[in-house]
Amino acid sequence: MHDIRNATIKSIVTEDFRAAAIFEKHSLDFCCNGGITIERACAQRNVDARVVFTELEQLGNAGRDTMPKFTEWPLDELVQYIINVHHKYVREALPVIFAHTQKVATVHGANHPEVVEIARHFHIVAGEMQSHMMKEENILFPYIIALVKAKRHGVAAHRPPFGTAQNPIRMMEAEHQAAGAEMYAIRSLSANYTYPEDACTTYRVSYQELQQFELDLHQHVHLENNILFPKAIDLEKELLGMGEQVEA
Ligand SMILES: [Fe+2]
Ligand SMILES: [Fe+2]
Repeated sequence: MHDIRNATIKSIVTEDFRAAAIFEKHSLDFCCNGGITIERACAQRNVDARVVFTELEQLGNAGRDTMPKFTEWPLDELVQYIINVHHKYVREALPVIFAHTQKVATVHGANHPEVVEIARHFHIVAGEMQSHMMKEENILFPYIIALVKAKRHGVAAHRPPFGTAQNPIRMMEAEHQAAGAEMYAIRSLSANYTYPEDACTTYRVSYQELQQFELDLHQHVHLENNILFPKAIDLEKELLGMGEQVEA
C-alpha cells in the first residue's frame, strides 16, 4: 500500500479495495467525499485516526489477490459489471426496502418517530436512484462504451450531444452526493442501524436491508466516481482532444 498518511481515502480504496471495509466500519466516506486524507476524514467524523492506520497496516497482503482489480479492467467491462451487479441489486432492493420502511413507519411511528423520517428519506433515495440509473444506462454509459470501441477498433469517436462527458458526469456526481447524504441521514436517525428492544421482525430486517443498501451504494459510487468517470474523461481527451471543460 502506498503512503497512507498523505494519500486520499478514495485513492487508498482504488488501490486496495479491502480498505473499503475499514472505512465503512468507521463511517468514513470514500466514494463521494473521499478526496481528503484519513486524518482529515477522521477529524470530521470524530474517529481516532490511529485506530484506522493500525487496521490498514494489519491488512497485510492476505486476500489482496482475490479482490477484483477494477482499475485494470477495460471500461466497457466495468460499465457492464456496474449494471449487472449494482444496478440490478438496486432495482431488486428498492421496492422491498421501500415496502418494509413504509410498513415500519405505519406500525411503529407513534413510539419511534425516527422510523417515519427514515421512510421519508428512503422514499427520496428510491425515486432519485431509479432516474439516476436510467440516465447512466441511456446517456453516459453508451457514450463511454462508444469511446472504448472507437479506440479499440481505431475508428473516429464522435462528439456527444451533451458537449463533453464532463457535463453528465458532474450531474451524476451531484446525484451520488445527494443519495449518499440521504443514506447518511438514515444511518444517523437509526443510530447506525441499531434497532430498539421492542422491534418486530420487519423492523429488524428493514434496518439490515438499509445497511446493506448503503454498503452497496458506497461500492457502486466508488467504482463510478473514482475509477470509471476519471478514466472516461481521460479517454475522451485522448480521442477528441477535449482538454477544457465545456458547459452544456
Ligand atoms: Fe450507477
Ligand atoms: Fe451513479
